[in-house]
Amino acid sequence: MMLRRTLVAFSFCLAAGACQAYPAFYDVLVKQYGFATDSAAAKAKCQVCHDGKPPKLNLFGKQVKPVLPEDYVLTAATLEKVASADADDDGVSNGDELKSGRLPAVKDAPSIPGPSTGAPEESQGELVPKHSFHPAMAHFPLALWAVAAFFELFGRYRKQKPYHDVAIANLGLGLVASIVTIGTGIAAMLRLGYWPLTANPMILHLALASGSTVLALGAWSQRKKEGLGFLLLLCLSAGSVLLAGHFGGDMVFGQ
Ligand code: HEC
Repeated sequence: MMLRRTLVAFSFCLAAGACQAYPAFYDVLVKQYGFATDSAAAKAKCQVCHDGKPPKLNLFGKQVKPVLPEDYVLTAATLEKVASADADDDGVSNGDELKSGRLPAVKDAPSIPGPSTGAPEESQGELVPKHSFHPAMAHFPLALWAVAAFFELFGRYRKQKPYHDVAIANLGLGLVASIVTIGTGIAAMLRLGYWPLTANPMILHLALASGSTVLALGAWSQRKKEGLGFLLLLCLSAGSVLLAGHFGGDMVFGQ
């Protein structure tokens, strides 16, 4: 009787021990590699080694299993054994991926070879990307002012007044859009670390972009006057915003 009780108690201890031993694996990982709280590995927790529901193992877990010591206690030495292997075969070793908080069983996007973009990489998964949507916003004044200049030229060529009004409407919309574009531009500049101005295309971009806005404002002030002032300022504004876009594009997509 006594023996049976002891055995039952003993097997309970064993079971409890086993259940605790495996989840403790994650703590060993953290101790070894110290993941940042927002890293993929910190978020994945048990999924660093498990696929779906434990005990199903992922590619990395499958490498850990055979090198586990007989007592199934994960140690730093065990992790060392698989550190130089590359479970997901993405060219970065398990150890290096874990050191930077990435998942050794998940292929990371290969870094694209070729010319560097010059602009710092934007981090993925952020609600507001580092460029603060400036490259997207910048298309609005650019397109609107170019269209305005086109309609003004066309209207003068055809000698039809309504085209002049269309040009004014496009110019006005472009001015409204330019407020947002300038705002996002300043945010992008600060967040991407372009300030203080050191890069050449950045200085040109800033000068042309603010220049084009001043020219567009000038054109706006001339919209009701006769003469060539409106057309001239509009074309200059459209021209410099196109150039600004060109140098801005250089910063995003590289030369
Ligand atoms: C360093 C990789 C690693 C981490 C992190 C990890 N495990 Fe495991 N786990 C393993 C390995 C290897 C096995 C052994 C599988 C085998 O023997 O078939 C295992 C086995 C298990 C088992 C099965 C135990 C058994 O008796 O078969 C469970 C349950 C489990 N783990 C849960 C977890 C939980 C929960 C976490 C997170 C708190 C976790 N594991 C974190 C690698 C890991």
